[in-house]
Amino acid sequence: MTEAEKKKELVSIFFEKGILLNPDVIDTIPNNLDFEMIIEVLSSLRQEDLAVINNELMKAIENKNADFNWDDLARSRVDYEKNRDDKVYNSFVSYIKNSAQVSPPPPKEIANTSQESQSLENSEKLPAAVEEAQKPGISVVSSYQQDSKKRDIQDFVAFFNHRYKALEKLLRNRHEMRGLLSTSRVKMKKDKENVSVIGMVFEKHLTKNGNIMLTVEDPSGTIKVLVNKNKPELYEKASSIVEDEVIGIVGVGAGNIIFSTNIVWPEIPLNRPVKKASDEVYAVFVSDFHVGSDHFLEEEFNKFIDWISAKTGNEEQRRIASKVKYLFIVGDLVDGCGIYPGQEDELVIRDIYKQYEVSAEYLRRIPSNIQIVICPGNHDAMRIAEPQPELYKDFASAVWELPNVTMVSNPAVVNIHSSPGFPGFDVLLYHGYSFDYYVENVEHLRNNGGYKRADLIMKFLLRRRHLAPTHKSTLYIPDAESDPLVISTIPDFFVTGHIHYSIAASYHNVTTICCSCWQEKTPFQEKVGHEPQPARVPIVNLNTRKVKILKFGK
Ligand SMILES: [Fe+2]
Ligand SMILES: [Fe+2]
Repeated sequence: MTEAEKKKELVSIFFEKGILLNPDVIDTIPNNLDFEMIIEVLSSLRQEDLAVINNELMKAIENKNADFNWDDLARSRVDYEKNRDDKVYNSFVSYIKNSAQVSPPPPKEIANTSQESQSLENSEKLPAAVEEAQKPGISVVSSYQQDSKKRDIQDFVAFFNHRYKALEKLLRNRHEMRGLLSTSRVKMKKDKENVSVIGMVFEKHLTKNGNIMLTVEDPSGTIKVLVNKNKPELYEKASSIVEDEVIGIVGVGAGNIIFSTNIVWPEIPLNRPVKKASDEVYAVFVSDFHVGSDHFLEEEFNKFIDWISAKTGNEEQRRIASKVKYLFIVGDLVDGCGIYPGQEDELVIRDIYKQYEVSAEYLRRIPSNIQIVICPGNHDAMRIAEPQPELYKDFASAVWELPNVTMVSNPAVVNIHSSPGFPGFDVLLYHGYSFDYYVENVEHLRNNGGYKRADLIMKFLLRRRHLAPTHKSTLYIPDAESDPLVISTIPDFFVTGHIHYSIAASYHNVTTICCSCWQEKTPFQEKVGHEPQPARVPIVNLNTRKVKILKFGK
């Protein structure tokens, strides 16, 4: 078939589907036209929304990642052609171009998790670890592997675009979001009408009358959202909204403002089944050893190491220890060096290599049939910006050399205990550096236990499907290919540390566990009023999913 015949054939294929090609498209169809790709994309589109395809639409079709409301786009094109309004259409065109620029490369995949696929598309997952040999019962689902490099402003733009698109996908199919429109379409409405939009929170403030006013942004622009104080339930929901999170807004649109009637978070679906292993086997969760600190609790930590080695405790305690198969360490293995001014005065080991060697000596005493999974924390010897890569081999070589250790990034997802016919459990590890920001800035977290209720902070993040939704809540790497802090895989266990106070709970069948620590209260914690609760160890029977917290304190 000649190129001219191909083009003619293409015009008739589109025509049969009720779509007319604008002359500008026909003129610019490349000679090396990928016929099959266009037909494949065509069949995946909601053709009923398309009447005429012009050049910009063609670009969008070619770029499968440009995900938006086709209906809005087609209408805005009509407005544009009739000289009624060009803003909306131009916004779409720039969004399409931008989407093309930030399209992620094909994902690298290794270990699959058989977790039901509530996960986002693979493009939003962390690149998976491929280097280390897989340990028995352990499969790394996602662990950040990108090398450090200089970032520029475009990386931030791409990063936030990825976040928006990932969370927008979760929200757009929710039944509450019927009649979803872009913010620019809402602004064009002259009469009051029920609308819903998905936006990233750009700003939030209280009006003179005590109502909450939000400004939310989507790829087509921004719009104001008013939450009236006379709707107490909604007002309470809106009170916990933080900057930069992506939310669904339902309400009555009228010009430049939406009067909100509901707020929708990306959420963890209800009624997910609780997976249980067929055998009695335990997973144990610890963090924040702070080896090297003069407040490190050596005696208590030795007791823990002796217990997990089934050397101490009563008969039942030793029996449980003998059934431990997985140990998770969620960051801050060492106290580090130069983490805060004057730290050297509070260190008994000032050499960072030695701190890791001592950590490794403890871990070496643990039976080698127990698989240990380690992610870093903010005291470990590496960059603090998240995602933090695996512990650096040159500083922590003694830990790396242990035969039963799997190193992952912070955050990371690890699948454990899968077997033929059983998908295993997905464990999301996150050290918890963003927790400080939310305890300080979200009133309902601050007033309901603060640092003592990590379960509420974890629920707050799970609902938002993001580990640090607010720009200011953590230091982060603006990855141009994805936002690795999006909670794309719904975990069976969400495990954190950092705040030195252990608690376990469950949210929509995700078991949330915050680990304790092995450092007694420091002068800094005394000064800021933190009350750590060290030497507690949450353990989970994977057969029953019951969590117990063991105490190794005096
Ligand atoms: Fe810590
Ligand atoms: Fe920490």
